[in-house]
Amino acid sequence: MVLVAHISDLHVGALAFKPELLVKAIHGINELNPDVTIITGDLTENGYYQEFVTAAEYVDTIETPILAIPGNHDARHVGDQCFNDIINRRCKKLNLKDKGIKIIGLDSSEPDLDYGKVGRVQQQYMEKELKKAGKDDLYKIIALHHHIIPVPQTGRERNVLSDAGDILQSLIDNRANLVLSGHKHMPHVWIMGETTFATAGTASSLKLRGKTYPSYNIVNIDDNRIEIILRDSEGKQLTLANIRTHR
Ligand SMILES: [Fe+2]
Ligand SMILES: [Fe+2]
Repeated sequence: MVLVAHISDLHVGALAFKPELLVKAIHGINELNPDVTIITGDLTENGYYQEFVTAAEYVDTIETPILAIPGNHDARHVGDQCFNDIINRRCKKLNLKDKGIKIIGLDSSEPDLDYGKVGRVQQQYMEKELKKAGKDDLYKIIALHHHIIPVPQTGRERNVLSDAGDILQSLIDNRANLVLSGHKHMPHVWIMGETTFATAGTASSLKLRGKTYPSYNIVNIDDNRIEIILRDSEGKQLTLANIRTHR
């Protein structure tokens, strides 16, 4: 069994950022002690150096191994350089092979733009890594900021990956098991073929849609089952998915 904490869209530096929510979420994750914590972007609001420094102070309190990838907000104001300097350094080399999983992080951000793109170079890298993991019989997780399939209750779609069709085809063809993303601040799960697509809400901001609460997801991966539990800031838990899967 592998336990994954999936948090996203911290938005440190935003007026709507609530530090107490982030502290509480990280405390909850540390108590659970998952195998890995995956942060799918928008750690900052504007990509400013000082915002990354503050975000890193929180990230440093996460006691598990971490994989973090940038979001569109992190790519503002040449924030990608700060992301590499400050956040990437905190992501220890993940070796979860003994746990039977492989996590592939992708940067879907574009400088100063809100829409996302994986691009040909990263797509080829992803396909190579998925094939390799397939040969090793590993459970394949992809993490990227932008959603690939539109998310309900998010208004007019305009931020799905610009190369979503190609990436989706590639994920299905290469039998990715789980795709984690954020961006829309709306938790949701789609299942297509053998692949589960899970988006997380915003963990620590009030940039919310309708009557939703800040939240993060816990993913429980068993040999033939995946369970995705949403934990919201009110302390409630909701099962987003509990399905049989192939390996
Ligand atoms: Fe966001
Ligand atoms: Fe975003």
